[in-house]
Amino acid sequence: MPQKTFYIETFGCQMNVHDSEKVRGTLAQRGYEQVHTVDEAGLVLYNTCSIRDKAEQKVFSRLANYKRQKAQGKIFGVLGCVAQHKGADIFEQAPHVSLVCGSASYNDLPGLLDRVEAGEDRVEGLSLDTDDTFETPLTRRDNPYKAFITIIEGCDKHCAYCVVPFTRGPERSRTSQSVLEEAARLAAQGYSEIQLLGQNVNSYRDPSDAGMDFAQLLAAVGRVAGIRRVRFTTSHPRDFTPEIIEAIDANLALCDQVHLPVQSGSSRLLARMAREYGREDYLDRIRLMKRAQRNIAISTDIIVGFPGETEEDFEQTLSLLDEVEYDSIFSFKYSPRAGTTAVKFEDAIPETEKSRRLSILQEKQRRIQLRRNAALIGREEEVLVEGRREKSKQWIGRTTQNRVLNFSDPQAGSSDLRGSYCRVRVTGSGPNSLVGELIATEAAQAFHGFRILQ
Ligand code: SAH
Ligand code: SF4
Ligand code: F3S
Repeated sequence: MPQKTFYIETFGCQMNVHDSEKVRGTLAQRGYEQVHTVDEAGLVLYNTCSIRDKAEQKVFSRLANYKRQKAQGKIFGVLGCVAQHKGADIFEQAPHVSLVCGSASYNDLPGLLDRVEAGEDRVEGLSLDTDDTFETPLTRRDNPYKAFITIIEGCDKHCAYCVVPFTRGPERSRTSQSVLEEAARLAAQGYSEIQLLGQNVNSYRDPSDAGMDFAQLLAAVGRVAGIRRVRFTTSHPRDFTPEIIEAIDANLALCDQVHLPVQSGSSRLLARMAREYGREDYLDRIRLMKRAQRNIAISTDIIVGFPGETEEDFEQTLSLLDEVEYDSIFSFKYSPRAGTTAVKFEDAIPETEKSRRLSILQEKQRRIQLRRNAALIGREEEVLVEGRREKSKQWIGRTTQNRVLNFSDPQAGSSDLRGSYCRVRVTGSGPNSLVGELIATEAAQAFHGFRILQ
């Protein structure tokens, strides 16, 4: 088997996706070549998620497929949130794993790999007491047009249901200078869209003398020459400030999109979840967004079946959907997580009831999305083209509101549009995407001399 080849599979959120891009760069510098099957790989890495039990189980079911392969010289490593949360227990559960490393220790990966390569077994990188963020100039990004930039790692909140503070450690912000330099470097490489990442971007605090808060950093990234779109995720409602909306209103490069996880529409339940805001505080933030000059798309995360959630609490979540009219939601059945405060709550909701509530919620939201997407028919949108569906001969793009817009080119005259910005007329809609027809490509628009942002 060729040594120095690696395979990596990533589970979980965008922070994990981006961490894997950084890990790939770190490995490439050490002479590893990436391969795309476990069979070809000398080193097999899983970058894991433990937000819900199902996510956590995925890595163990993958590992179970390869129990006997350690004997053939393959090295297995578990990275990310399950690694941090379960630690050395992973070696017991899956004895063919040689490396367990959490995201706060990725700076130590080269040293840990030295030890694994030297034949050491059960190598751990599990320290959480680091002031560093994981920054590397070696990052190998997957997407050639859109780039993630981590601005803050970890989380200092203690939502009663959530493992993230245990899996990612305390909050550490990057300096504004290093964020802005990375954005400028990406623009020079041809990236035009940037997504700023953190578990709670609103608690970003510039550790340098520049002393920027999140709204200031967002505005500054929006001014980097060549960057046409900036998104950010995730915002915690308690720390969400009016200055963020002002920044969006003031700069067209900041996208018309905010993801503001609510979790529940019931203040009683929000208090139990230790979210540090109530329904009305949350709705104040929503009103701010709705009053903005820009047409900001709003999305959220919702948990159903949190311990003690009564039918009345659940009704309040349903009524919140009507009141806010979200453009999209991510909804989950509550999953008890070891180490969190909620795991001790005794008034668990039965799985069948959680499933019932989830499907009612999702059906309600599906109707809202159908209606909201249908209202866009006839409009012109600017999209960044991200791909092509050969079967239907459609280009796949995303609008500033992050809606997927699949469009055809009636002239069929355009060359490869990937990575370019096009104007598209919306001609149809479904619950999760729009369809449309190309009006003008970027080249045509430049020719006619008009700037495409509304
Ligand atoms: N930092 C982000 C979200 C991190 S996790 C925030 O504060 O919003 C993404 C989503 O997973 C959460 O918003 C929540 O809706 C969901 N989630 C987290 N823990 C969960 C659990 N134990 N069970 C079910 N869903 C959970
Ligand atoms: Fe988890 Fe709450 Fe932190 Fe989000 S803010 S990562 S939900 S603890
Ligand atoms: Fe999962 Fe860790 Fe992200 S638990 S959601 S991969 S921070």
